[in-house]
Amino acid sequence: MKLQLSTWPEIEKYLEQSRGIVIPIGSTEQHGPTGLIGTDALCPEIIAEGMHAEGILIGPTLSIGMAQHHLGFPGSITLKPSTLMAVVVDVVGSLAVQGFERIYFLNGHGGNIATVNAAFAEVYAESSLSGQAGGLHLKLANWFAGKRVTRLSRELFGDAEGSHATPSEISLTWHAYPDQVRDVPLDPERAPEGPIRDASDYRKHFPDGRIGAESGLARREHGRKLYEAALADALEDYHGFLV
Ligand code: NI
Repeated sequence: MKLQLSTWPEIEKYLEQSRGIVIPIGSTEQHGPTGLIGTDALCPEIIAEGMHAEGILIGPTLSIGMAQHHLGFPGSITLKPSTLMAVVVDVVGSLAVQGFERIYFLNGHGGNIATVNAAFAEVYAESSLSGQAGGLHLKLANWFAGKRVTRLSRELFGDAEGSHATPSEISLTWHAYPDQVRDVPLDPERAPEGPIRDASDYRKHFPDGRIGAESGLARREHGRKLYEAALADALEDYHGFLV
């Protein structure tokens, strides 16, 4: 079930049988010369498509996140940490007043983790300080860190996975969007590693945008296997979260 393709009476009825919802969350940022700018938002959305087929309610994708260090590359859009926290707090608050009690953010971007967890801490603090009995459970789940996905990425790519514009995330988007496969030479094949600072420093140290990844190993057929692994991880984790 998709929130965007439902009516309010349908959601009211859904709430009689489940208090849970999945919100895909990602980022809009460069992913090297071959990865799509939407990669981090598309990946959780693609996996959530499979979850919705199982009768789970999927909310709208929050597709802009924490991408300040990518701003040196055209097309990247960021929120400030304070803005993203405000967005998450307001999304959670809106759903909570209607009776949602299990809000599961399926995340595609490592840079969102600290900020979204800080937003959850704000929500819990509000509830604790108000003295209300809060039945709200929040979770940020990173699709790329599930146990099946981690095992499969390691088998397929080993150390060539890297940390940005990874062959895993690019493969997954190409599986879902086969018309968007890019064939562009990458030099060097494996991108450099190093710390992330501000946008100008980032472009100086990672000139084509990738970090540590051999993005040229991405393939649609790997993406299909990663999709199946990620969907199994997400379904298992979400069902555990609802309990
Ligand atoms: Ni990414």
